[in-house]
Amino acid sequence: MSDAGDVRKALASWVGYLGEIGVRELALRDAPAPVASAPEEVLDAPATLASLRDEIGDCRRCKLCEARTHIVFGVGNPHAKLMFVGEGPGADEDAQGEPFVGRAGQKLNEMIRAIGLAREDVYIANVVKCRPPGNRDPEPDEVATCSPFLFRQIELIGPKAIVALGSPAAKTLLQTKVGITALRGRWGSFRGIPVMPTFHPAYLLRSYTVENRQAVFSDLKAARARIDETS
Ligand code: URA
Repeated sequence: MSDAGDVRKALASWVGYLGEIGVRELALRDAPAPVASAPEEVLDAPATLASLRDEIGDCRRCKLCEARTHIVFGVGNPHAKLMFVGEGPGADEDAQGEPFVGRAGQKLNEMIRAIGLAREDVYIANVVKCRPPGNRDPEPDEVATCSPFLFRQIELIGPKAIVALGSPAAKTLLQTKVGITALRGRWGSFRGIPVMPTFHPAYLLRSYTVENRQAVFSDLKAARARIDETS
């Protein structure tokens, strides 16, 4: 391929990536730039969790901004080996600005302790960062708008494994329409990172059967073994 073709290809890939992490505008520099300048010189992608949070700003990119109180970015160890991903903040999380702090959060903390870890050891985030009204599932346009921020968060943290809590998280990370009952307990992959889909703690609270509890425990034990394997 010609040099110009290579440059065009590299730029197209870079611009696609910027779109994925939510960048909608590129500023042109006043100073004349060399024709084949490195893309990094044009605009830096958020390189830390703090700069990613700054990039999100007081987000108005989708309709979830209308009723939210707080953007719920994520919490935990920025170098966590294990990451948990839920669907979106509920009422308690919206009020406090932290994921999984309500009843489902208490259950999640229990689940994390059951595999010998503490909430502070892991990183917890959601597919969407603003509360869907009435705790409905996030809609496809909301997931499409917000998930690139989750994806960048995952890249920055670099966990050894991810636990996807419930259908929306599993579907988003695994890019599938298959429901959680069929997915749970089987490893999938997000950009090379192993993903274990399991039931959402809120579902577990609603359907507190021995079978469901055993299923979730078995999924979490598999995730724990995976991060220990690769330490
Ligand atoms: N349910 C989720 O999926 N995420 C939260 O942060 C809280 C409840």
